[in-house]
Amino acid sequence: MQTKGKLSLILGAQWGDEGKGKLVDILSEKFDIVARATGGANAGHTVYVNIDGETKKFIFHLLPSGVLRENVTCVIGNGCVLHLPTVLKELKNVKDQGFEVEGRVKISNRAALLCDYHKIIDGWQEDAKGDQRVGTTKRGIGPCYADKIIRRGLRICDLEDWDSFEKKYRANLAWHQKVYGFDFDADEELGFFKENYDYLMSMIADTAQYLNDEIAAGKTVLLEGANAALLDIDHGTYPFVTSSNPTVGGAFTGTGMNPSYLDENIGIVKAYMTRVGKGPFPTELHDDLGDQIREAGGEYGSTTGRPRRCGWFDVPITKYSIMLNGFTSVNLTKLDVLDHLAEIKIAKAYTLDGKPFKGLPARLEDLARIKVEYETVPGWKESLNDVTSWEELPENAQKYVLRLEELIGCKIKYIGVGMRRDQLIIRA
Ligand code: GDP
Ligand code: IMO
Ligand code: MG
Repeated sequence: MQTKGKLSLILGAQWGDEGKGKLVDILSEKFDIVARATGGANAGHTVYVNIDGETKKFIFHLLPSGVLRENVTCVIGNGCVLHLPTVLKELKNVKDQGFEVEGRVKISNRAALLCDYHKIIDGWQEDAKGDQRVGTTKRGIGPCYADKIIRRGLRICDLEDWDSFEKKYRANLAWHQKVYGFDFDADEELGFFKENYDYLMSMIADTAQYLNDEIAAGKTVLLEGANAALLDIDHGTYPFVTSSNPTVGGAFTGTGMNPSYLDENIGIVKAYMTRVGKGPFPTELHDDLGDQIREAGGEYGSTTGRPRRCGWFDVPITKYSIMLNGFTSVNLTKLDVLDHLAEIKIAKAYTLDGKPFKGLPARLEDLARIKVEYETVPGWKESLNDVTSWEELPENAQKYVLRLEELIGCKIKYIGVGMRRDQLIIRA
């Protein structure tokens, strides 16, 4: 029988920013490899660590959040859209903070290359959509994935032969210039690739082969989801979504990892809901309470700094995400953000035209007509920040967690009570 390592998966279950980075950072201590599978620098994964007695904040857009563990090899998988200057900037920042990174980062030779002009085009497409704009992060995600899907895109492996790369790059740029009519300094961007050529080459690998070989040899792999289920191009609130599949299938397609290794599949679920950018949000709070939650939770985008929209925990949406992804457990994050509330609402069911509605309507017009049924539970009105075990949680906080667990039908194994590594309760 083949030796078998352990494979775990962490995915965002709502509209992103649930706290994936924190759990990846914590769990990666016990993994050999952490890999990103989808998305690009639209993701912003925050990790707080204590360095020489000082709390330092890192926001990772492309590097896996396991990079601060010096035993971990970090992989950026084939499903990602890669802006290489961002990767190098993040690596430099990690190095400057005293972490050894040499030889620990592998970039898939099959990943899509995201160029500066993709970012410019992202901005124009948004502007052209006017009222219908998605509210993208303007990191070039849609235009780069569009190039990939229409089969004119550049891949990381194209860099391996400079002469043909330069031709392909200029041809891709010329195609976009023909469509959009703009001036662009190709030499500047080509100069970046040339200047960093040897360093970039040292990181490029067939990562699907690497990951499968390593796990077959008994190594442990953690796949780090980016973005989230409700932003999935197929299953999310289209067109207010990203351009990839941040659900379970994308994690495997985006790494080439053999799915039969999967042991643990953790959905990251915030104790309330947030969304950044446009699009439907049935439990959104448009009042002072929404503002209070935003301030208490520091709900400002890790990538763009935009204020995140806030609302009550949405059971139907979370159940839909659990169904799509098959989570084996959930990490309920940011429970402490609700500390100050006397009462908390839970959106427990949807109705459409007076009838119970299961799942998520495909048509936004139907989603807009959804009526949300709430129940109200008492808050706990005390700080959870120093709570380290389930038993220490105030009774009403326990009741809230148990009620959510009952409604979503999935074990809440991890509970976040603060942003630091030690502010995580693990339930038996
Ligand atoms: P990600 O994109 O899913 O990795 O999440 P982000 O990093 O964009 O946003 C989550 C924010 O919540 C970050 O600032 C985290 O430091 C913070 N955070 C994560 N878990 C907790 C928690 O349990 N409590 C509090 N108060 N903050 C948390
Ligand atoms: P993490 O990994 C929150 C949202 C954008 C926009 C839509 C499309 O940090 O959870 P895009 O730039 O992808 O074309 O934008 O998707 N979005 C995210 N929102 N967290 C994210 O990532 C996101 N990635 C994309 O705000 O509404
Ligand atoms: Mg984020």
